[in-house]
Amino acid sequence: MSKFWSKRIQELDPYTPGEQPQDQQYVKLNTNENPYPPSARAIAAMRAAADENMRLYPDPDCHSLKRAIGDYYSIPAEQVFVGNSSDEVLAHTFVALLKHEKPLLYPDISYSFYPCYCKLFGIRAKQIPLAEDFTIQPKDYAQENGGIIFPNPNAPSGIALSLDAIEEILASNPDSAVVVDEAYIDFGGDSAVPLISEYPNLLITQTFSKSRSLAGLRVGFALGQKELIEGLERVKNSFNAYPLDRAALEGSIAAIQDKDYFRETCQKIIKSRNETAEALKKLGFSVLPSKANFIFARPPKGNAEEIYQDLKKAGVLVRYFKAPRIDEYLRITIGTNQEMATLLEKLEAII
Ligand SMILES: Cc1ncc(COP(=O)(O)O)c(C=O)c1O
Repeated sequence: MSKFWSKRIQELDPYTPGEQPQDQQYVKLNTNENPYPPSARAIAAMRAAADENMRLYPDPDCHSLKRAIGDYYSIPAEQVFVGNSSDEVLAHTFVALLKHEKPLLYPDISYSFYPCYCKLFGIRAKQIPLAEDFTIQPKDYAQENGGIIFPNPNAPSGIALSLDAIEEILASNPDSAVVVDEAYIDFGGDSAVPLISEYPNLLITQTFSKSRSLAGLRVGFALGQKELIEGLERVKNSFNAYPLDRAALEGSIAAIQDKDYFRETCQKIIKSRNETAEALKKLGFSVLPSKANFIFARPPKGNAEEIYQDLKKAGVLVRYFKAPRIDEYLRITIGTNQEMATLLEKLEAII
């Protein structure tokens, strides 16, 4: 605390990222990173970009990346916004589209950055409880609001919502922006991109951090009709006109163009997730049905915090949230087959 802090800063409750230990080598299954390296084409493109041109500012509009993302999804570049991580894209979205008189709605169990942005930007919010089985119920979002946001698949549950359910939320809220945070969509969920042409209130955010193995590069994007994208551009150009550096632009373009590598790594993770879920069930865990690159599971005795600590001592890091309704669960990122075998071996010994 300092007398120089503004009132807003004194009242903040900042986000706590998962541990990034610098001291010891862990089997690291706590921050939903991809266990496989980025596309070799992306690494080569970033190396090539580290040249004399670094003295020059990058393209402030990031047009070549917008075009590459637009080509991937068969939509025009003007329906694409890019930023320095999807967290930054989300921050701009909260300011541009979700700050209104009426409260912003989001699930009570969800990405814990949403309440941080609400505090930072002074946004009124109302948390909508998930059903008992941790699913989002579209009818709960048919109420007065100034905007709606939820991840699909949700985090940390990993549960995905169908396109029909998303459409129900969009159709019952024509006067609100509905933001679908698709950070984990490439691991088996159905993307809402095909709904963009029909719903002017739909904004989708995505990231290169998970399915494209580039958490270290910090590139995220949003997709939606032109007017929503223009709103985000207005915030971005009032904040940081050059959010992506030259290496990030070239690396992310190469990554989204390397479709074969992307498909191969996503498939490996999906297969490993399904096998790990079965193995955890055999150990007595209750496992929520995940379409993400992580599993949310309750150990047989619900003693998740203890198991988290024991796993850490055994050199395996997973994520534990000491929060209402989820404090008996562990969130386990899908690693390589070898890493998952180590996790299961340690869990068996602990349990
Ligand atoms: C639901 C959700 N959205 C967005 C993000 C942010 O991703 P990034 O800032 O790495 O693009 C995360 C990261 O864990 C997430 O879990």
